[in-house]
Order: sequence, then C-alpha cells, then structure tokens
Amino acid sequence: MPCRRTGTLRDVSEFPTYVTHLECSATGERYPADVLHGLSRAGKPLLVRYDLEGVRRAVSKETLAGRDGGFWKYREFLPVRRSSNVVRLGEVITPIVDLRASARQTGAKRLMVKDEGRLPTGSFKARGLALAVAMARELGVTRMAMPTNGNAGAALAAYSAAAGLEADVFCPADTPDINVREIALAGANVTLVDGLINDCGRLVAEGRKRMGWFDASTLKEPYRIEGKKTMGLELAEQLGWTLPDVIFYPTGGGTGLIGMWKSFAELEAVDFIDSRRPRMVAVQASGCAPIVRAWERGDDHAELWPDAHTIAAGIRVPAAIGDFLILRAVRESGGFAIAVDDDAITEALVEVARNDGLLLCPEGAATYAAWKAALAAGDVTPDESVVLFNCASGLKYPLPPP
Ligand SMILES: Cc1ncc(COP(=O)(O)O)c(C=O)c1O
Repeated sequence: MPCRRTGTLRDVSEFPTYVTHLECSATGERYPADVLHGLSRAGKPLLVRYDLEGVRRAVSKETLAGRDGGFWKYREFLPVRRSSNVVRLGEVITPIVDLRASARQTGAKRLMVKDEGRLPTGSFKARGLALAVAMARELGVTRMAMPTNGNAGAALAAYSAAAGLEADVFCPADTPDINVREIALAGANVTLVDGLINDCGRLVAEGRKRMGWFDASTLKEPYRIEGKKTMGLELAEQLGWTLPDVIFYPTGGGTGLIGMWKSFAELEAVDFIDSRRPRMVAVQASGCAPIVRAWERGDDHAELWPDAHTIAAGIRVPAAIGDFLILRAVRESGGFAIAVDDDAITEALVEVARNDGLLLCPEGAATYAAWKAALAAGDVTPDESVVLFNCASGLKYPLPPP
C-alpha cells in the first residue's frame, strides 16, 4: 500500500504519551494499549485511560497557551505515540461565537456557540477521524470501513486520503448529496444503502472479515472519542479554565457528549479545573429521539427508534451503542434530554442567521431550538451561561428557500 507523506508532523518531536491501558466502559475490564481493539469482550465501548499524574507533571496551562496546531496541541491527553502517524489538514481551535442579539431577545445573559464548522471537511468529525486514522497507522491498519450519516464519512475519506489508507463508507441513500460527493472525491469507496445508519453498520460488521476491514464505527473503535474529547479540552481553555453552566449537544451516537464528559474528569485530575461541571443536555429530533425517551422513562439503555426521520441528518441515529454512557453523563451532570421537531429546527436556523449572522447546520439549530424551549419551560434560567454545539458548517446542507 503506497503511503503518501504529505502533511505529516515531521517537524515536531515524538509525542510524549501517557496511555496506560484501555478499559471496558461497562465492566471496567482492562485491555493492553498498543494493540488493535474493537469492542470489549462484553460488546461495549473501550475507553482509553492515562497516567494523569504524569500528564499533570508534563504539561501546564502556560505550555498549552503557547502552542498551536489546533486540537493536536493537547497531545499529552491523546493516545498517539509517533508523530509520523499524524496527518494534518489544517486543524484549528474552533471559535466560540456569542449570540448577542438572540440572547438579548430572550433576556438571557450569555449564549455562545462553539462553531465546529471551521474544521477540515467542515465538521467536528475531523477531530475523531484524525485520531482514528493516526491510530490506525500506528497499529498497522490499512483499510477501514464505516457507516455514516455523511460528515463522519467525509472526514474519514479525507484523512485516509492524506494518510494513504483505503476507506469504505456506507451511508443511507438519502444522505445529503454534498457528503456523498465529498466522500467519493477523496477517493473512498462509497455505497448508498436503502436503510438507516444502523443498517449501514450491520453491512460493515458483516463484511469485516471477508473484506479485511477495520470497523471504524463510532465507539466500536476506541480512538474517535479521544478526538471528540478535545472539544471539552478546548472549551475549558477558551473559557479561561472554567466551564459554562449548561451545554446543549446535538446527540446521535453521542460520542461528543461522552467524550467531553470524559475530558472534564481528566482536566480535574490534572488540576486544570475544579469539580464544577456543566449540566449536559442531549438534544435530539422528535422524529428520532431514543435517548430522550429513555431519559424520560428513567431507563439505562435506549430502545431502537422505529421509522427514524429528521432533516438533521447527523442526529438520525435510531440506536446508539454508547446509549448508557450518554444517559449516565446526562444524569451525573444533572442535565436532561430534550427533543425538538423539524419545524422548530428550521425556524431556529433562520432566527440565528438573521439575529446574529451565524449560519448553523440543522443539528446545531436543534440545540438553539432546544435551548429556547428549555428556557420557556424553566429548565434553564436566563442567568445561566450556555454553550450550544454547532457541529458542522451550515453550508453543507440544503438551505431553506429565500
Ligand atoms: C453535524 C452533526 N451534529 C451532530 C452529530 C451527532 O454527533 P455524535 O455522534 O457525537 O452524537 C453529527 C453526527 O453525524 C453531525 O454530523
């Protein structure tokens, strides 16, 4: 397999890493680092564990403040051991944009958006897939396959192209066209499936042995979550090592929410933040809200949501393997789960663009609609500082007519 070297981090020394082992998120069983893993023996996601005392001694807030390189600056909190395995496509620290006019209109004190649409391939999926691809190289994987609602496939295709790896991507037939073209343009094999993302996931699982694929499905490989975790690290640093009162997160597979929750524990362990935590709010679409239903029922796991539909493609996930981790983080944080319908999503998209000049993606607009609904219901108060996650560029989606 030819391996193109453009964009590798040749200019920095080897990454110091502090990974000690991996751990089953359900049973706590330990697994060795530096070996290729999928799910644990219990069929649950594996989480990477670090020598956080070592991290604490190795890195300070001042050191971090002086670094660039986007999320790679948090390398002590990441699992990659050899810098030559990293490919860079111009990762940036994503801005926090104040929605001043929208906040004023509702009497809220501070409403912010972390705008992930500025990352390579126009979405936060760059974080997870950059890590997955670097670790694939580190562990000798040459061919990865993945189900996707679009954005993750685009990120896998782009990072795989830069890393010289082969990628096979399966997406629902009604995935936004721009994503499908983007994946194909980067040279990945893209298959349109008559079904939803869980049907695509089944095809990947079935073809794994036959095709020699490594299954890079979210939370079925242990490193995408480590990339998504950097959203939490970044947010804390940007807010002066404090956290907002509430985070609204558009929840599909939930990797970002689970990853941020993990990052806050790691930041506290290295004394970068105190024990205060934001309330984590899982936002879903009312046409696909398995986590909301499980949260309302007090369940630990979510049942598959039948006939899932919403214009917010990224959160159309009828069943999530990390359901119990999402629900656990939401409950531990004192947060909640909330669903909004597609009309509210479209209204929110228009409102924020007009009020504040920020074009959200539908999933990001869902968080704004959810925040407004929660404010009206008294589940958040106007004096609470709030961060909404806009996980992709609004330009990647069909826009409402003028
Ligand atoms: C734009 C956007 N927002 C939110 C999500 C959901 O992310 P997660 O898998 O972390 O729940 C996705 C996933 O595809 C997405 O593309």
